[in-house]
Amino acid sequence: MNTTFKKIIEAELVAIKEKGLFKEEGIINSKQGREITIGGKKYLNFCSNNYLGLSSKKELINAGKKTLDKWGFGLSSVRFICGTLKIHKELEKKIAKFMGYDDAILYNSCFDANTGIFQAIVNSEDAIISDELNHASIIDGTRLSKAERLVYKHSDLKDLEEKLISTKNKRLRLIVTDGVFSMEGDIAKIKEICDLSDKYNALLLMDDSHATGFLGKTGRGTHQHAEVFKQVLGPVKNRIDFITSTFGKALGGASGGFIVSSKENIEFLRQRSRNYLFSNSLSPVITGVNSFAIDYISQHPELRKTLWKNVQKFRQLMEKAGFTISKDEHPIVPIILGDAKLAKTMASEILKKGIFVIAFSYPVVPEGKARIRVQISASHTDKDIERVVSAFVQIGRKMEIIK
Ligand SMILES: Cc1ncc(COP(=O)(O)O)c(C=O)c1O
Repeated sequence: MNTTFKKIIEAELVAIKEKGLFKEEGIINSKQGREITIGGKKYLNFCSNNYLGLSSKKELINAGKKTLDKWGFGLSSVRFICGTLKIHKELEKKIAKFMGYDDAILYNSCFDANTGIFQAIVNSEDAIISDELNHASIIDGTRLSKAERLVYKHSDLKDLEEKLISTKNKRLRLIVTDGVFSMEGDIAKIKEICDLSDKYNALLLMDDSHATGFLGKTGRGTHQHAEVFKQVLGPVKNRIDFITSTFGKALGGASGGFIVSSKENIEFLRQRSRNYLFSNSLSPVITGVNSFAIDYISQHPELRKTLWKNVQKFRQLMEKAGFTISKDEHPIVPIILGDAKLAKTMASEILKKGIFVIAFSYPVVPEGKARIRVQISASHTDKDIERVVSAFVQIGRKMEIIK
């Protein structure tokens, strides 16, 4: 091994550990679900993106078995050579309709969608204006484009407007925001952002990974929740030009990403988006089950109802107990503790009670804003919610975090 490289890596690893940033992976010995097994012990799971509880749903597993039998395992090709199946086209049509758009393009992940779009649609004559808390894949994706990059303060409309004014001479401006921010669980001020994008004639892209499937009346996501549609005359028009999202969270939780937009925009991406052009097609089994998942959630609105009932119950009980939690109604609920050590100790005490939660601290979240991030699922029962709150209350009192 190259000794210089070895020394660099060893020093970096030591530094990561010293800063308390080394990430341990808990090894799960069961299916993903409401309850998981780690090291022979069962835990109630309160930290996955399994918002609708579909990850190990019997019906999805059966759909997977059927798809595997019919369409095989691999495709050994990118889409434009010999890797486009009928079921890819069906899934694109279905997800576009579900999201309320004309067309969709599939990727292997939302990370791929986000790193595949910016270099295709904007260049050195343009500017990208991005929220400072946007997901890592957006940050990486914007770095791959030659456009000027500007970052606005989190959800700060004044700062966004200033940046729109300062870039008025660019050919195109593209505003980029998460629909829901994963560490805060807060929802973007998307209506106001749409107004600014209209006022300054800027394009708008939203990553809705933490909303697709459950936010809004029929689960379309943040655009439905905020009702950012316009109907002047003729058909209802989406005010967001591009939405990127994932199948890897509420929609079954396996993998696959997508972008929805107008027919021409999607046609253009099929010609120009390098991650789409030069990467294997989404595997048939995942394509088939993702498609099944869209039908399943449309036929089972009670999943969304249960999720929101659970979210409300958890939030109410935690607030009543005296914990500081974020305000927006979303299944991501950060319990803000401030101090990194305090958050870590509390998470490990809760873990001892058979409840799986994780602490996050700087630089994943701002300094002094360490937290335990709880994620609620439709698979949780009333008793599960009461049990997790009771664990927080007992340990919170013991550690003198609450009275
Ligand atoms: C906001 C956001 N965008 C994109 C991604 C990446 O999604 P995928 O797992 O499909 O690559 C994530 C996943 O953590 C996310 O939270």
